[in-house]
Amino acid sequence: MKQMRRSLIALAASGMLAAPLLAQAAGDPAAGKEKYATCAACHGADGMGQGGAFPKLTGLTEDEAAKRLTAYREGDKEYLKSVGLGDRYGTMAPNAAGLSDDDVANLAAYIAEEFGGDAGGESASAEQGDGANQGEADATSQAIAQADIKRGSALYSSCAICHGEQAEGGHLFNAPALKGLPASQVASLLKVYRKGTEMGPNSYAMIPQATHLTDADINNLAAYVAIIGTDQKVPANVEGN
Ligand code: HEC
Ligand code: HEC
Repeated sequence: MKQMRRSLIALAASGMLAAPLLAQAAGDPAAGKEKYATCAACHGADGMGQGGAFPKLTGLTEDEAAKRLTAYREGDKEYLKSVGLGDRYGTMAPNAAGLSDDDVANLAAYIAEEFGGDAGGESASAEQGDGANQGEADATSQAIAQADIKRGSALYSSCAICHGEQAEGGHLFNAPALKGLPASQVASLLKVYRKGTEMGPNSYAMIPQATHLTDADINNLAAYVAIIGTDQKVPANVEGN
């Protein structure tokens, strides 16, 4: 009995020795998974970005994920721009600010192993995820095609005070520009705020604006926001509402 316990302890000890040596070579995906819990609020537990509201984390290699996280942490907007990111820097940067080097390595290992990049064997499950997400996106765009843009325009008058008449963004609460966001993304974001989820530093200003919106309101708003600044006009002929 004693003998056995001793050898178990020896095993555990050697395991404890091996772990830090491994961690130096590369990130530890298991530790990354734990840390990822806070990221899932936006990027989704499946890394699919909540129906387009946030970037998908699929297809990134460990190296790419680590570089991007480091850039958000260090405020290296130039690098982010060079890889086509940075438009919504203010939403992501606070989430990277508190990460240690180990956190970055572990998260990058988890993201690459679980969602993408060089993990070729995972492609079947990744495709499945894509399929489910595609279904959701289709449902959203269908709802938006049926949306009442005139009604969206009326609802938007309460948003304009912060986001600007042309959805160009405003100084009040640092409200971001909405111009150029696809309708499906606006709708997904509004649904996330409606649940009361904190996304950026000024969510406290936005959440109360979304809590009372119905699904129809959201689709109408999203459809309207998507055409602001485009050549499409708000249709003049509307029935009733
Ligand atoms: C509040 C929502 C939110 C949270 C929480 C969040 N992110 Fe992000 N993330 C974003 C947004 C928005 C972007 C795009 C920012 C931009 O335009 O540069 C982004 C971008 C990224 C990118 C680059 C994506 C690409 O296309 O290469 C990575 C990697 C990333 N986030 C990882 C994380 C990790 C890891 C965490 C948790 C520590 C996290 N994010 C938490 C919103 C969030
Ligand atoms: C009191 C000011 C205010 C009003 C009114 C307001 N918003 Fe916002 N909105 C914000 C702020 C601030 C943010 C960023 C919140 C954060 O940091 O998470 C935001 C974020 C958003 C986003 C996410 C943008 C992105 O790229 O992440 C959308 C979409 C949005 N608002 C739509 C609307 C719509 C539609 C309305 C009207 C129903 C509205 N907002 C009314 C202040 C406001």
